[in-house]
Amino acid sequence: MTENHDELMGPTDARKMVEDGYDQLAERYAEVRTLSPGNKKYIDMLARLLPKDSCVLDLGCGPGVPITKELVRHFKVVGIDFSSNQIELARKNVRIAEFHRMDMTKMTFPPNSFDGIFSYLAIIHVPREEKASLFSKIHEILKPGGFLLIAIGCDDWVSEPGDDFMGEPMYWSQFGAEKTKAMIKDTGFEIIQTSKEYSIFDGEDEKHYFVLAKKKESLEGLLKDSPIQIKKY
Ligand SMILES: C[S@@+](CC[C@H](N)C(=O)[O-])C[C@H]1O[C@@H](n2cnc3c(N)ncnc32)[C@H](O)[C@@H]1O
Repeated sequence: MTENHDELMGPTDARKMVEDGYDQLAERYAEVRTLSPGNKKYIDMLARLLPKDSCVLDLGCGPGVPITKELVRHFKVVGIDFSSNQIELARKNVRIAEFHRMDMTKMTFPPNSFDGIFSYLAIIHVPREEKASLFSKIHEILKPGGFLLIAIGCDDWVSEPGDDFMGEPMYWSQFGAEKTKAMIKDTGFEIIQTSKEYSIFDGEDEKHYFVLAKKKESLEGLLKDSPIQIKKY
């Protein structure tokens, strides 16, 4: 496996391969995707940390099952995905969430829009060179004190041309657990919890890396209702 397939395939080709791949396999994917104990554990954790009906964004929501469907039990959910077939399925599967066909690397939500942002196994498809700006964008649209929860691959790895997922050409690009955690921290998040949890796809166990992080509150924000004045020198 090459370490630097990013040099072989540009971000535009990579994006097209992922989008077309999920358009083709949307229905088959929905049939095999099950809610793993790790998924449930972290969603339940979030439900304890955020007030009921908080507004959360599900990035790369896929067909809406099982993740978005579980999220709407606790939150008001906006789901985005760039595969039109995935979004169409998500709209049918989870009628009470709001869905948009949108590329997460180009999303344009206003700053401080969401109390929580979730992304399960979708940032693994974003080219490594675009991850830092994606984490900055996520940080910007999350409210101070809001939570980020992601599940990604554990290893530092970029797929090769010809790799497939469920019979379709597919592209993955990941830094691995430690580097991703460091990037999230450097973006301005406090890391709350991480762990490697099993997910089951198509009958096969695979470990994924979960990160729960909190957007730090600015001093100005923390003191906004206080008589204390901040003096800048
Ligand atoms: C493995 S599926 C995960 C779906 C769902 N989150 C889940 O846990 O079952 C990855 C999803 O991410 C979407 N995706 C990948 N890159 C994306 C991007 N740049 N913008 C929006 N969606 C993206 C794909 O279309 C696909 O539906």
